[in-house]
Amino acid sequence: MKHQVLDKTFVPYLTPAEIEAAIKRMGADISRDYAGKDPLFIAILNGSFMFASDLFKEISIPAEISFIKLASYKGTESTGNVVTAIGLERDLFQREVIIIEDIVDTGKTLSAFLPQLLHQQPASLKICSLLHKKEATTHPVAIDYLGFEIPNLFVVGYGLDYNGFGRNLNQIMQIEA
Ligand code: IMP
Repeated sequence: MKHQVLDKTFVPYLTPAEIEAAIKRMGADISRDYAGKDPLFIAILNGSFMFASDLFKEISIPAEISFIKLASYKGTESTGNVVTAIGLERDLFQREVIIIEDIVDTGKTLSAFLPQLLHQQPASLKICSLLHKKEATTHPVAIDYLGFEIPNLFVVGYGLDYNGFGRNLNQIMQIEA
């Protein structure tokens, strides 16, 4: 069924069952790859809150989770986008860190943020994203655990918003063509 969010119409794209299956797969992959380790997940708010919650329940090894917000603003022409992390209080030194993102679109946000994390010298740093718009990516980011590759069309639901609304949908919907 179609769904209206503010002035835009959205159509079903990924069902709750498809999302759940992808998350179970990702959770199992991560739990297997990090067996014997105790990774620290860092979920990037707001969009990833629902995904992070469901993914974390699928992690069967000892693990920690922390939530941060990224505020981006335009820096000088030479530095481009500057991203500040709000709420990143844990020490990442020698930790196995896994970033949880809702979607990688242009890749600008993560490519600006990752060097700041690497600066803290984690033992490893991997990216887990529910969605990836490959065609839209101008700043390539290596995604280690991916739910779905999606076309370059705006999506809402399951934590993702359109101007703040639509996050509460239990499915992912795509903007009507
Ligand atoms: P990037 O820096 O372009 O990769 O931006 C990533 C961020 O943009 C995501 O974390 C989302 O918050 C937001 N975003 C990108 N595409 C969409 C979309 O289709 N729907 C909702 N939010 C999106």
